[in-house]
Amino acid sequence: MKKLLFGLAISAIALTSCSQNKQTQDEKKNETLETILNRRSIRAYTQESVSDEAVDIIIKAAINAPSARNAQPWQVRVVKNQGLINAIQDGVAERLKAQNPDFASRRVLFDAPVVIVVANDTTNPYGQLDCGWLGQNILLAAHSLGLGTCVVAMANDFLWSDQAKGVVEKLNFPDNYKIIYCVALGHQKDEIPDAKPRDMGKVQIID
Ligand SMILES: Cc1cc2nc3c(=O)[nH]c(=O)nc-3n(C[C@H](O)[C@H](O)[C@H](O)COP(=O)(O)O)c2cc1C
Repeated sequence: MKKLLFGLAISAIALTSCSQNKQTQDEKKNETLETILNRRSIRAYTQESVSDEAVDIIIKAAINAPSARNAQPWQVRVVKNQGLINAIQDGVAERLKAQNPDFASRRVLFDAPVVIVVANDTTNPYGQLDCGWLGQNILLAAHSLGLGTCVVAMANDFLWSDQAKGVVEKLNFPDNYKIIYCVALGHQKDEIPDAKPRDMGKVQIID
């Protein structure tokens, strides 16, 4: 009887964890789907550097994103210079401090060893959209290589401001380009976070 109860308890635990983990067997067998479904925004990085080889692969994946008429309306800067990364973080913290003193120590780029800054061609109507495809390729390629990423738009207010002129000049973007987001990139420090909830109610199948 005890054995039967133990068996039932184990089955119940197994069933619960199966229903929580929505990945089907097909998804687990498929590396692309696994990469998409297991990627998370990572907000804590070690100081271990990212290899040049990894950066090359990530950038190759990035620029192989689709774009309307293959216009590639993006400019991408891979920032490894810690002084520049800190200047961006300090600039954002300074602005945030004005809103709330608690934000003064906020490291919006999570002190990541690499930050990729992406700017869109403002004269291209699909510029922002196409930069989005490019960004997703960065996130997925990095995750497939065991690296963590987080898209960061929170630095934009600072990067668009007059205060950031000196910093942004170093990024060397052409005149008609506007920074749209940064991506923190590095080796994740902590365990991979749980998946954030997704709303299937936003999807309808129309037969
Ligand atoms: C355009 C964009 C801007 C974002 N900006 C920030 C940001 O400034 N800071 C941050 O911690 N996360 C930022 N994120 C990450 C989102 O919070 C995250 O993608 C979302 O909560 C879902 O979690 P997941 O990426 O782990 O699936 C941004 C994501 C996107 C797509």
